[in-house]
Amino acid sequence: ADTLGGAAAQSGRYFGAAIAPNFLGETQYADTLNAEFNSIVAENAMKWDATEPNRGQFNFSGGDTLVAHAEANGMEVRGHTLVWHAQQPGWVQGLTGDDLRQAMTDHIAGVAGHYQGRISSWDVVNEAFEEDGSRRQSNLQQQLGDGWIEEAFRAADAADPDARLCYNDYNTDGINAKSDGIYAMVEDFLARGVPIDCVGFQSHLSTDSNLSTYQANLERFAALGVDVEITELDVGGSGSAQADVYRTVTEACVAVDRCNGITTWGITDKYSWRGDDTPLLFDDAYQKKEAYDAVLEVL
Ligand code: XIL
Repeated sequence: ADTLGGAAAQSGRYFGAAIAPNFLGETQYADTLNAEFNSIVAENAMKWDATEPNRGQFNFSGGDTLVAHAEANGMEVRGHTLVWHAQQPGWVQGLTGDDLRQAMTDHIAGVAGHYQGRISSWDVVNEAFEEDGSRRQSNLQQQLGDGWIEEAFRAADAADPDARLCYNDYNTDGINAKSDGIYAMVEDFLARGVPIDCVGFQSHLSTDSNLSTYQANLERFAALGVDVEITELDVGGSGSAQADVYRTVTEACVAVDRCNGITTWGITDKYSWRGDDTPLLFDDAYQKKEAYDAVLEVL
């Protein structure tokens, strides 16, 4: 196959991109998306601040635009993200105790329920661990205690039993203290029957990232009994050094049966959240970069 999505599909995988609905009107943006990718995720449009700006008042306009585009073009949709310490609407930030717990489970029911049956995998909880493998001291953690993550997964499972339910985080690009902490949580969830199906590895990388245990880390999670997904891949840098990092990550996913797919965090460098890092597969003018060729060759 001569596209990212087509090549990934040959081994039953997806190749996706993070998308902003307001760019779909740009011809080159939409054309590149439609030609090359067979999965999308909302870069921001399905986050808590976007979907529930006021308590109990949901706004699905951006997310619905993306899901409609995906369905019209035969693409899967990843859901990102139901619960996160960042990009919470203001009204959530001051809540305490059971009031916050109720707001969290109502939010999950509202959003995952709205998209029920249309999402391949949800990032139910995002970035809940510190670098040392302990829990991040977010409002959720401080107000609700350790049980909040499993409560979120149970609420997501009730709202959309068919979606795969993922835990998603960054700086988990190898076997390290942070990925150890997540591994222990997943092992515990599986042992106790907490519904978790997958772990997302964001993979915000650069040309000096150490990837010596990247594949081994995916393998140990897969061996536990969850799928693994590369959820937000981007690599600061350029040329062959950048291409090498993309190649290593793609090789690792392809080598692991339970690695279902790869999503890059955007299409074009022009709109990357990383500013001038030029971390994506298409340059500012939507030209394919050396990294693109490396990924396509491996898929
Ligand atoms: C980023 C978006 O790309 C930006 O547009 C936004 O301003 C901030 O969030 N980890 C995540 C993503 O899980 O949701 C973040 O996306 C990037 C880091």
